[in-house]
Amino acid sequence: MDQASSLRKIVSEKASDVVKNRVLKSSDVVIGGVTANYPRVMAITSGKGGVGKTNIAGNLAIAFSMLGSKVFILDADLGLANIDIIFGLHSKYNLNHVIKGEKELSEILVEGPYGIKIIPGGSGFSDIANLTEGQKLNLLSEFETLDDEIDILIIDTGAGISSNVLYFNLVAEECIIVTTLEPTAITDAYAMIKVMSTKHNMKYFKLLVNNVSCVKEAKLVYVTLCKVIDKFLNDVIIEYIGFIPSDQKLKKAVLNRKPVLEMFPDTCSSKGFTEIASVLASSPRRYEADGNLKFFLNRFINFGLIKE
Ligand SMILES: Nc1ncnc2c1ncn2[C@@H]1O[C@H](COP(=O)(O)OP(=O)(O)O)[C@@H](O)[C@H]1O
Ligand SMILES: [Mg+2]
Repeated sequence: MDQASSLRKIVSEKASDVVKNRVLKSSDVVIGGVTANYPRVMAITSGKGGVGKTNIAGNLAIAFSMLGSKVFILDADLGLANIDIIFGLHSKYNLNHVIKGEKELSEILVEGPYGIKIIPGGSGFSDIANLTEGQKLNLLSEFETLDDEIDILIIDTGAGISSNVLYFNLVAEECIIVTTLEPTAITDAYAMIKVMSTKHNMKYFKLLVNNVSCVKEAKLVYVTLCKVIDKFLNDVIIEYIGFIPSDQKLKKAVLNRKPVLEMFPDTCSSKGFTEIASVLASSPRRYEADGNLKFFLNRFINFGLIKE
């Protein structure tokens, strides 16, 4: 067995041990289907910008919706609030208006295709740490009104290891790291995993490889990342969840301000999104069933900004 395949084997054994251990833990309620009646919160993140996070968030949202889930997207990229761009939507208000008490959460929601609802973050997240207690409570109770309406909340984060991005990754139930084949994207993905594991004790990540030509290329990215992680970081598990092929039709859809899964449902990247959604849908949950969204929100509101 060559070095790469032995590494792959170790990593996949480690990952399945974690799953086994989790299944055995009495505090864990493991539910495979996305139709579980409590919200699942997933952050889509990356070390480097422009690797495809927003397209992944938007298209996975559609794929989950096609599987019968009620999906919300939280557009939390402060730099470029762009989920509305790929959906061709315009949002007049954002979370800042809710924080200031000028709008209710239900009034800022933007309706996307397939019943997806988008929560525009705008500049609302720039200063979470400085919110007053009253503002925090208000935000919390606004989010709680949505508890029954959400099966899956997808957070489209910004790139890099700024405190805001780390914040979302830490409070979400699962953190999906996106990288491409580019060495800088892989290095930056590693940098993000390093900070989250060494400074914030987060040890479990999912990896989605975007914009590659084939599964072999995607696995090469995975193995490259695993090798560095194994060498330099303790107890970090990174689970490969799949890849999205390079697809000119995806670019064409972006130019048309439509998600590719809506515009070209049969193209290769659309099939990739559908496959990854079903992989995620059938993967075990990490936390107890009780009040998942509440769990997320409490952490979200109470954490304060994370020191880098
Ligand atoms: N699978 C893919 N195939 C072809 N082009 C892609 C793919 N994924 C992303 N792109 C290109 O990369 C650009 C940036 O994607 P985007 O989702 O906005 O990245 P991010 O949110 O990480 O900044 C897209 O506009 C598209 O042109
Ligand atoms: Mg983006």
